[in-house]
Amino acid sequence: MARGSEHDATDDERIAPTGHYTAYVWHHLGMPNAELFVTPLGRALFWGFRVSGEGLLTWAPFAPSMTQYLDYRHRAFERALEQSEPDLVVELGAGLSRRGVTWASRGTRYVEVDLAPMVRAKQRLIDARSSAALRAAIRGRLEHVARDVLSEDFGDWLAEALRGARRPAVIAEGVLTYFTPADRRRLVGTIARALAGRGVFAAELRVRGSGASAGALGALRGAIRLVTRGRGAGEEEPSHEASRALFEGAGLVDVRAVEPPPGAPLPARVWVGRGGA
Ligand SMILES: C[S@@+](CC[C@H](N)C(=O)[O-])C[C@H]1O[C@@H](n2cnc3c(N)ncnc32)[C@H](O)[C@@H]1O
Repeated sequence: MARGSEHDATDDERIAPTGHYTAYVWHHLGMPNAELFVTPLGRALFWGFRVSGEGLLTWAPFAPSMTQYLDYRHRAFERALEQSEPDLVVELGAGLSRRGVTWASRGTRYVEVDLAPMVRAKQRLIDARSSAALRAAIRGRLEHVARDVLSEDFGDWLAEALRGARRPAVIAEGVLTYFTPADRRRLVGTIARALAGRGVFAAELRVRGSGASAGALGALRGAIRLVTRGRGAGEEEPSHEASRALFEGAGLVDVRAVEPPPGAPLPARVWVGRGGA
């Protein structure tokens, strides 16, 4: 467990259910390989939430539904990765994401990092459900690593993992927002140093909003609480400018947001920054 951070074992229990939930959303949206990661917990959360909450949220004209938000988020990461043409992807807190299997099966070296119980659960699902063709396609390309990204030796591990890569991409989807602002800044700094002047880092950050986006944020926070049974919504950044400053302050350059579709007042952005000198 991380020393010198506010992270403890209860955080893992708090965060993990949302990984099951988002895995089911990607399946519901028909994304490739998402069916491998459908779990009873994800299915129960998704349909329970639909009945109890999401209908109401979608009914409010300003509010994005949780599914719309997760759709934007996942596709924004895909776009950021496609544009950076990585020769290696390291995904932090990969959870039950279908992305690693998908990119590895197309030939990209892909390392998924998560806490040990999630890594074990994911490996079991891949072993039990993937076809022989898919297993052959990902062999030697997809690696699972059990590691606490808030631990003090994580930076050394990451620097070593990125060694030899010319265009590495480090990504964290649905992860930073659950950490305290201090842990978030420390982790982004660690990643920027490990990139050592090449490649990209991408992660989403939620903000405290005003006007329509405040309404949307309230809805989104409520939705996350519902999905995580009251335990999941972390502290937002004060503004999108503060999110950009977080990336730039860590030493990342050419920092940009992947904008959501027009008319969707999403109180979050996926940010992409290149490793600075
Ligand atoms: C909300 S889930 C997101 C999973 C996936 N990226 C997604 O978008 O559905 C957060 C993931 O981060 C993992 N996680 C939480 N704290 C972590 C830590 N300190 N080190 C590594 N992984 C962590 C959890 O186990 C979980 O799989």
